[in-house]
Amino acid sequence: MTGAARFRHFLDLGDAGGDAIAAMINDAIDRKAGRAGLPKGAPDADAPLSGKVLALVFEKNSTRTRVSFDIAMRQLGGSVLILDSGSSQLGRGETIADTARVLSRMVDAIMLRTDDHAKIEDMARHACVPVINGLTDRSHPCQILADLLTVIEHGKALPGLEVAWFGDGNNVLHSILEAAGLMKFNVRVATPVGYEPDSAFVALARAGGARVTLTQDAAEAARGADVIVTDTWISMGQAHAEAKLAAMAPYQVNPYLMALAKPDAVFLHCLPAHVGEEVSEEVFEGPQSVVFDEAENRIHAQKSVLLWSFGLLAP
Ligand code: CP
Ligand code: NVA
Repeated sequence: MTGAARFRHFLDLGDAGGDAIAAMINDAIDRKAGRAGLPKGAPDADAPLSGKVLALVFEKNSTRTRVSFDIAMRQLGGSVLILDSGSSQLGRGETIADTARVLSRMVDAIMLRTDDHAKIEDMARHACVPVINGLTDRSHPCQILADLLTVIEHGKALPGLEVAWFGDGNNVLHSILEAAGLMKFNVRVATPVGYEPDSAFVALARAGGARVTLTQDAAEAARGADVIVTDTWISMGQAHAEAKLAAMAPYQVNPYLMALAKPDAVFLHCLPAHVGEEVSEEVFEGPQSVVFDEAENRIHAQKSVLLWSFGLLAP
């Protein structure tokens, strides 16, 4: 990008758009290859975010998001600091607006993991630095960027790809649907009645030209799919409900469902997994599972998100 860099919030994939997502994936592939053999915390040769500080703000638990953003910033030459709601004034009721204004004076970018999506919109409205969505109840865009990178690395092109989702119509599925409309792949969604995704995300995907099939028949969704994906049946902040677990049982990804997909289909899961619930051990540990590539790719994908947010990656 030429001229003065301008910052951009990354609250959802649509903030970037299809061309920027393609650029982010290409940049992630190049940077990942370019640093092969380096220690994980060593900076990339150009260290493009040298001196920059990213605040990681958590109102929910995290392992991957926390570690991958920290390592991503180290590799880009910058650093992070971490605020948990339990040990910061956010947990005592200081407003998001004031937190955004204070952090904007002290750091160069903010990543927020929170419950209500309205909170991250509030953060973005009041911050003078880029705000990045590290998961809300509504969406998880950084995860899906890593997922797209992973399927491409495993030899699949996005346009026309058949992605099949099983179980709960949750935040991760919402970002898959948003990506489908932007990157022109198709999504078959198999959920029990009452657990379908937000219809706004289905409409968004369809408006972008994706074919979205909603079904209660897991086999129908799996047949001929290129990618099989699932997630926990109970997301963070949701009550553990026996009725929900019982409704989800027919949607477990197991060898029977995998056998209906294409022979070279890959299995994705954002993690943490509940093996024996949403996925059987045979599939989770099996040869088609790429879940640990997917986890590692959080680092590489988020480096691109950071560069894009700082205005250092076009378009
Ligand atoms: N997939 C993911 O976001 O993992 P964490 O909850 O551990 O960050
Ligand atoms: N749907 C899950 C994703 C965890 C990374 C949750 O929100 O808890």
